[in-house]
Amino acid sequence: MNGYCYAKGGNTMFVVKKEIDFSIDHEGLIIGLFDKPEKFIGNLEKLDEQFGGQLRELVKIGDISAKFKKISKVHSLGQVGAKRIWFVGLGKEKEFSFEKLSEALGKVFKALKASKLQETALLLDSFTSDQVDGLEAAHSVSESFALSTYQFYGYKQKSNEPEKKIEKMTVYSEINDEEDIQASLTVGLAFGNGTNSARTLVNIPGNLLTARNMADYAQQLASKYNFEIEILDKEEIEKLGMGAFLAVNQGSTEPPKMIVLKYQGKEQWQDVIGLVGKGITFDTGGYSIKTKAGIVGMKTDMGGAAAVLGAMEIIGEIKPAQNVVAVIPSTDNMISGNAFKPDDVITSMSGKTIEVLNTDAEGRLVLADAVTYAKHHGAEYLVDVATLTGGVITALGLHTTGAMTNHETLYEQVLEASMEASEPIWQLPLFEKDKERVRNSKVADLNNSPGSEGHAIVAGAFIGEFAEGTPWVHLDIAGTSTTSREHDLGPAGATGVMTRTLALFVERFEPIKKS
Ligand code: BES
Ligand code: MN
Ligand code: ZN
Repeated sequence: MNGYCYAKGGNTMFVVKKEIDFSIDHEGLIIGLFDKPEKFIGNLEKLDEQFGGQLRELVKIGDISAKFKKISKVHSLGQVGAKRIWFVGLGKEKEFSFEKLSEALGKVFKALKASKLQETALLLDSFTSDQVDGLEAAHSVSESFALSTYQFYGYKQKSNEPEKKIEKMTVYSEINDEEDIQASLTVGLAFGNGTNSARTLVNIPGNLLTARNMADYAQQLASKYNFEIEILDKEEIEKLGMGAFLAVNQGSTEPPKMIVLKYQGKEQWQDVIGLVGKGITFDTGGYSIKTKAGIVGMKTDMGGAAAVLGAMEIIGEIKPAQNVVAVIPSTDNMISGNAFKPDDVITSMSGKTIEVLNTDAEGRLVLADAVTYAKHHGAEYLVDVATLTGGVITALGLHTTGAMTNHETLYEQVLEASMEASEPIWQLPLFEKDKERVRNSKVADLNNSPGSEGHAIVAGAFIGEFAEGTPWVHLDIAGTSTTSREHDLGPAGATGVMTRTLALFVERFEPIKKS
């Protein structure tokens, strides 16, 4: 077939072609090189012939390298249609993986963007191996492209202009069917774009992303993807008795919003997955106020909500045969004469009473009512995502999301998804003694802050009290939702972490037989 198909995402168009013709004009041509004795075989051998064997020579003298993530740019000087060739080192074939491919692609796409190229071609087959087939590689191409070239425009008067970006990429593949490649490119793009949407939500400052703004955003998503939507305002939240959520909002002039999105991909509303995301638009700590240094950056305290919304965007695009209810409690945590205080006792929607020992432990309070509400909407499996504790950073550092569960089988499914998404998670324990610490209060059923020892664990344990018997996984992204350093798959700032894990988890989800 000579025709081509295309997918559009952002303003980049991916065109798939089967026949490789080196005489066709391109601004750039991207080729993957594995570190093996014979690098130029098949189509690459034909390419080298066009250069009279000079490419091999450049490898010999080290100007073209197959070392992992090494990028070698070669000008074709009219020998082929493409003006420049960008060789990307992929390292040893046996050590190759989807994650490595994505990093290598991210790096070369960034280099192309820096060179202000607006059009390029890519030889997909040169990026495949026993570990990564053509369809996976196609997914990585569009996903990595979206992730690596993501930019938050910000609010500067002068440099608010979007940077020049590749507008068209021709993906050549002889091995796979064009339509299949196209489908994978489309899905990869959905994953990349969903993650980027989450990043943008996190990067927007608290004055410009209030609970109401987040609700409006959810409304737009719902309209675009036909999700059922419910946005509870303050009165409705009061009527439902969400005393824990309301306590956190009490000091604010911005009304709270409980945002609920429903996606139904099965005939019956059963086997419902509840995705719950912490949506604190700014966390001052309340009367247990944060330090001057600690308060900066707290606009990102809705990273869990952003991941859930990003995942819902992907779900809206790929339409898996699953049922999902997303629940986002959104408010800021402020100080005023009305604000809640340490020693206050509040009553959650579940009926459980809570002694407030620390108003800065607000995430678990809003999540308590959100988890209860997700169950009211029929959630039979729960995954909550939250920038919950500094403690998880102490325990696991900045690359690994902390996880806790009351159900190992459900956890395994989340773990699988996280590995596939290259978003590492690590499980923390949840023992009876941890639960006892949360249940230790003279005046209420629970306390919200049993002390700083293992505080990532007791924060998770607190949420677990509201999951009760429902299979539940908790993901603490306080360390992973932002990064201070630019990386191959994005700039410094929000990472959009767990967006892809949640979407993959939902896509692959298998209901668990109840015993
Ligand atoms: N939003 C913070 C957690 C956080 C810390 C997120 C750093 C991102 C970066 C959370 O609400 C919080 O304040 N947690 C406290 C809990 C403590 C008071 C028990 C913390 O981790 O210090
Ligand atoms: Mn806090
Ligand atoms: Zn917080």
